Amino acid sequence: MDDLVGFISPARWVGHPTLVYAELASTNDEARKHAENGCPQGLMVLADAQSAGRGRRGRAWVSPAGENLYLSLVARPTVALARVPTMALVVGLAVCEAVSKFVGTEAVSVKWPNDVRVREKKLSGVLVEGAIRGASLSYAIVGVGVNVRGARVAEELSETATTLRMACGREVSRREVLEALSRSLESRLDALSRDGFGALLGALKSRCETLGRAVKIEGVEGVAEDIADDGALVVRTRDGALVACHAGDVG
Ligand code: BTN
Repeated sequence: MDDLVGFISPARWVGHPTLVYAELASTNDEARKHAENGCPQGLMVLADAQSAGRGRRGRAWVSPAGENLYLSLVARPTVALARVPTMALVVGLAVCEAVSKFVGTEAVSVKWPNDVRVREKKLSGVLVEGAIRGASLSYAIVGVGVNVRGARVAEELSETATTLRMACGREVSRREVLEALSRSLESRLDALSRDGFGALLGALKSRCETLGRAVKIEGVEGVAEDIADDGALVVRTRDGALVACHAGDVG
């Protein structure tokens, strides 16, 4: 983990401070502890390995040592409670932009709601967990996992997942990815607070592979036509109706 120790974030607030651990159960849990103790926005937790990394919907996030990025950022964006789900999309966009530098813009896309994929294979997942106080968001833990250095993925994931190394055909340093990610996260989270989700929708839609595709999501079947200003995926069903899907896996 020498490549992570001593990381100095090039961003203004993201990654200040950055805490690096050899192993944690989940970086999201560690970041939450700091947030509950009143740490400033920007604190970032990195782990070389996670023993209980988690993904959306209670799934496990396999987190071996020495290969990938597992990070959680404490953010306190200015966003209405009803718009908190848009954060995962905004973070997905930021990840997409950061890794484009390594794999090329055309190859990488956001799969609604929170996957970043390279040529249809998952490279990164985003897990945003909010804490509510009264009627507003007290803080959000922005968790990001990026597959970076592995020369292969586990056999059972070989059809569905990839790593930056596999996608670029060369070694990629975790530190370089982290630098790019710190900058893009800061830029996109600042824009969300300042201008609102609507101002980011154009950029997001242009990177979203789900739009225009036939989808099945939580019993709704049709063609994904749009992303609404609350982050919902808008699906045109066979009978012509438009249905806003707020959560679920896209099949
Ligand atoms: C998903 O695709 O379901 C989201 C995966 C999120 C994984 C990251 S790794 C860093 C952070 N800590 C966790 O336990 N999960 C997130």
